[in-house]
Amino acid sequence: MDHLLHLECLVCGNRYQPDAVDYVCPRHGNEGILDVCYDYDRIAARISRRELAGNRDMSIWRYRPLLPIGEKAELPPPAIGWTPLYQAERLGRELGFSHLSVKDDGRMPTASFKDRASALAVVKAREQGAEIITTASTGNAAAALAGICASIDQACVIFVPESAPRAKIAQLLVYNATVMLVAGSYDQAYELCLAAASEYGWYNRNTGYNPYMTEGKKTAAFEICEQFGWQAPDVIVVSVGDGCIIGGLHKGLRDLHALGWIHRMPRLIGVQAKGSNFLYQAWKEGEDVLDKEPVSGVTVADSIGAGLPRDRIKAMAAVVETGGAFVEVSDEEILAAIPRLARGVGVFGEPAGAASLAGLVRAGEEGLVAADERIVLVNTGNGLKDTASAMEAVTRAGVRPYKVVPELAAVKKILGAGADR
Ligand SMILES: Cc1ncc(COP(=O)(O)O)c(C=O)c1O
Ligand SMILES: [Zn+2]
Repeated sequence: MDHLLHLECLVCGNRYQPDAVDYVCPRHGNEGILDVCYDYDRIAARISRRELAGNRDMSIWRYRPLLPIGEKAELPPPAIGWTPLYQAERLGRELGFSHLSVKDDGRMPTASFKDRASALAVVKAREQGAEIITTASTGNAAAALAGICASIDQACVIFVPESAPRAKIAQLLVYNATVMLVAGSYDQAYELCLAAASEYGWYNRNTGYNPYMTEGKKTAAFEICEQFGWQAPDVIVVSVGDGCIIGGLHKGLRDLHALGWIHRMPRLIGVQAKGSNFLYQAWKEGEDVLDKEPVSGVTVADSIGAGLPRDRIKAMAAVVETGGAFVEVSDEEILAAIPRLARGVGVFGEPAGAASLAGLVRAGEEGLVAADERIVLVNTGNGLKDTASAMEAVTRAGVRPYKVVPELAAVKKILGAGADR
């Protein structure tokens, strides 16, 4: 792994050899998030855009020389990554944007963006010979970890709030994870998981703690740029809870820029729910994310409910360094975006996935994006993850099924077709 230089603390700038620290900067504890730093000359000697064009591995592992894993690392079998990037002309027209695309990570093996990070966690844990991997999660990171662990018969222990959508809990149980349903919030589940991990010596996959999760998530940025023929878009819009996804996109773009594969950075726009708007507030008011008190973290978009975003340093840097923005949207706007995204481009997102669309609408109203820019919306989770919210969304939109007895006449009556033709 000679392409991996060191891990750098984002608080004090101290550098560590990867095997010299467990997860975070020892001087800064849980807040001392580390950035994984590479030798780009070495990477450039091992991978090129031309080589990628001929590479038939349509998964995140096609970018292996850009990932913090050795050449002999054992890769788990699920086909993670290379999700579709749809041109959303009709939806774009409706919203007043001429070049809108949607990256659908609801198409992942466990139906969310989180497979990208959990895959890396499993590879890194195996490198260390870990017997048990753990994570706290609002549901998707856990489902991703449980699914990938199941594929290789690896044990994992999951901490999720008991309020997590049923489908996400069902995924955990089907994959045979050990599941701790925490009577409390995601933030409480997170603290409990950290305590249990250190008590039992489990491998810790937690977001905003394990530095390698960003490295898994950055693969989405690689894919977007490759799918655009290595022309970076102008703007990428994505929902933000802990901030690891947006930080990961930023990291991927920085990698590509350092390699000279893209020549300018897209602006990153982070979408937060009003009840979970820590980063939006901090950005708007110019507050220090390390001093700021947590917010409530309550929203219908459970996946982005985080009172204290654990990856807040990377998330803020992603927006500030790219000249992007944070926007906040209400739960009503998020729910309304679910059918709008589905009808506009055929992509069914869970609330946190469709939140990116609500955020784009808001960003347009606030003059943060121009009509002719090349915009990518990321759907981070499949709508089937939370059908209760989807039903709430369509009910609010006034859409109901017809109830019908099993007779053609009854159908005709409803459709107003009248008598026999
Ligand atoms: C569907 C979905 N969207 C968005 C997010 C937010 O990602 P992050 O917490 O890295 O900001 C998550 C995280 O759980 C998610 O599952
Ligand atoms: Zn430090």
